[in-house]
Amino acid sequence: MSNSLQGFDVMSATFAADVDQAFWINFWISIVLGLSVIVPMLYFAWKFRASNVKDEDISDVTHNTTLEIVWTLIPTALLMVLFYYGYSSMKVLRTMPAESESIVIHVEGKKWSWNHTYPANKSGFVHKSAELYVPQSENVILKMTAPLNDVIHSYFVPAFRMKEDVVPGRVTQQWFNAEKLGTFDVECAEYCGTRHSYMLSKIHVIPKDEYDAWFKSSSKVGPGEKEVAKSKGHELYDMNGCSGCHSINTDSILVGPSLKGIGAKYDAQYLKDAIIIPDKDVPEEFSAGIMPPFNLSDEDVTALVEYITTGK
Ligand code: CUA
Repeated sequence: MSNSLQGFDVMSATFAADVDQAFWINFWISIVLGLSVIVPMLYFAWKFRASNVKDEDISDVTHNTTLEIVWTLIPTALLMVLFYYGYSSMKVLRTMPAESESIVIHVEGKKWSWNHTYPANKSGFVHKSAELYVPQSENVILKMTAPLNDVIHSYFVPAFRMKEDVVPGRVTQQWFNAEKLGTFDVECAEYCGTRHSYMLSKIHVIPKDEYDAWFKSSSKVGPGEKEVAKSKGHELYDMNGCSGCHSINTDSILVGPSLKGIGAKYDAQYLKDAIIIPDKDVPEEFSAGIMPPFNLSDEDVTALVEYITTGK
């Protein structure tokens, strides 16, 4: 998994320019205001140092009404400017387009992977994917949630300048309209445990006709990707984000134990329990409470264990 972030150097959503404008106005007003306090302060501290001032020169200094009004009004006016740009760009981000004119995609964030579920297409097929595919220049609404036994995450796309918390048991939403074709990073922006910094995904912005053709199909992989026949267990393994924490082809330890050769060490019942009730019997080198319990049917768990132990 690549960890290089294609980020703020690209502006790709319709509202990205508004967000950047609000940021830079904030930035420069803060710089100018900061300097207008610090520079005179240093200058006066030096100019009116004790050895330079006689008591009789300053005995009648009280206040200066004009000066005090001016240094109250100017920051107040600047504050209004900050508020205006902050509020107007926030409003664009927070006002959802009509759902009838948008693609509504459900997002689930859980330790430590993202899943996207599309609306059913005409033939009733529901696309699910770890990476998001969207057409260029269309409104997309993300309805996001996390499982009840999970923690708070945040769906952050630097190139789109958008970010919103993903909360267990609640549905939060955000929207975008991507102007540029390309692939953009999705990051988790709320600390959520061991693999937080690897809770990454991608948004692929593709031409509309390519998207439509893919959406109409029943392809189990992304547009333009070759469908490889996968066993049910393999599919479950990918959909549940197992590879985020367990390596399967090498001995390396990510968060939990490597699954390479695990079938020789444990029987099927032990492995099933380890998926459904992970804290039941944790190997000595690892801690309880890290792996979330997976709520899978008996049939699914059997298929998953089959894949983990035999690779099929
Ligand atoms: Cu999910 Cu940090």
